[in-house]
Amino acid sequence: MELTRLKGFQDLLGTQAQTLAYVEARARLLMERYGVSEIKIPMLERIELYQRSTGETSEIVSKQMYTFSDRDEAGTTLALRPEGTPGVVRAYIEAGMDRSDPEQRFFYAGPMFRRERPQKGRYRQFNQFGVEVFGRADPACDAELLVMIDDLRRDLGLEFQFELNSLGHAGCRPAFRAAVLEYGRRHWDELCRDCHERLERNPLRLLDCKIDVRLAEQAPRSLDYLCAECRAHFDTVLDLIGAAGVRFVVNPRIVRGLDYYMRTTFEITSTNLGAQNAVVAGGRYDGLVEVLGGAPVPGIGFAIGMERMALALEAARTPRAALPRIALIALGEAAVRKATQIARELRAMPLQVEMLSSERSLKAQLKRADRIGANYAVIVGPDELARSAAQLRDLGASSQREVSLDRLAAELSAARAQ
Ligand code: HAM
Repeated sequence: MELTRLKGFQDLLGTQAQTLAYVEARARLLMERYGVSEIKIPMLERIELYQRSTGETSEIVSKQMYTFSDRDEAGTTLALRPEGTPGVVRAYIEAGMDRSDPEQRFFYAGPMFRRERPQKGRYRQFNQFGVEVFGRADPACDAELLVMIDDLRRDLGLEFQFELNSLGHAGCRPAFRAAVLEYGRRHWDELCRDCHERLERNPLRLLDCKIDVRLAEQAPRSLDYLCAECRAHFDTVLDLIGAAGVRFVVNPRIVRGLDYYMRTTFEITSTNLGAQNAVVAGGRYDGLVEVLGGAPVPGIGFAIGMERMALALEAARTPRAALPRIALIALGEAAVRKATQIARELRAMPLQVEMLSSERSLKAQLKRADRIGANYAVIVGPDELARSAAQLRDLGASSQREVSLDRLAAELSAARAQ
């Protein structure tokens, strides 16, 4: 048996890990501006949590979860979280907030697990950055979340397509579902195998079938079945985001594969990606808190697929201001002592500083500086130390000059500005 990583699981090294961390850092900054606070939830939950929320008929629950029996007497079945929403709702109810202080906004970041068929942009372990808002039924809240996503898009310098739909609420949705079911039965002979299976379990999925595109396009549309209230809610969302400058299209085929959605649903795709191009998805889930045993509190949220966002960023090659890289070379014990202080000052500039091993020769350290792609080498040896100076070597231009230590930070930032 070879000890390689599992299919669909990734090791992220160097820039890949860095881009992911960068996207997360920018998203976290945005959360501060929107007053959204962090929630950390477990990666393992009881399987019933997902069965009751994501839905037994969803592909996630019926086919994709990693589950196992606990070693307790009851043999509790556990599931690795395939998504964050159910856990956040459970935590919210468990903290008693649904009754004591229902209006809350949370964000979470971390890995999710789905046993999907792996391909570029689709993994069995992937990271989501999600936001969930509770206690707000008004369309301005839906709009605020969509503007938030557009703010992140703008910050990252990406182009997205926003696709929105409304599925109606518990009152008007059943008529729509029945119409799709009836339509599917009428066209049974033309449907693909997957849709045959979907039709009884989750008929709305017929609308986003990638095979029966023509049939899906002619299928009943939820927008035609909305009650006056749901229609007004959706119109207001569109009006608000349009006024705020978010560009979008209404796509009646956005039905989403999870059971809890109602009213506003959306998928946001990146024009820089291939088949797996949905970078963000979400919607309203009024009713879910109650289904999981809480008070009747409305909810809405979305999750960003972080790997896909990172891929989009790399594909767009948005130049990111990288910090100039300095290789700090100290020769001798006394120089190491001084260099430790210098490194700290330079990092505060901010500059990226790597102190190289003083156990190697100057030549070996310069070779290492090249290898790590440093822009400058700062060399401090006993002679320089005696003069309170350092050699500043421009590794691109292969030029070198002596700079006094009090001028070093200023010289490096002047060089950086050029
Ligand atoms: P979802 O559409 O299942 O929604 O996932 C959200 C995003 O996670 C997708 O648009 C995609 O970018 C990313 N994603 C999903 N599966 C994979 C995968 N196998 N590999 C890589 N990326 C993936 C949810 O999870 C809902 N909980 C979103 C939500 C939050 N709705 C309301 N609140």
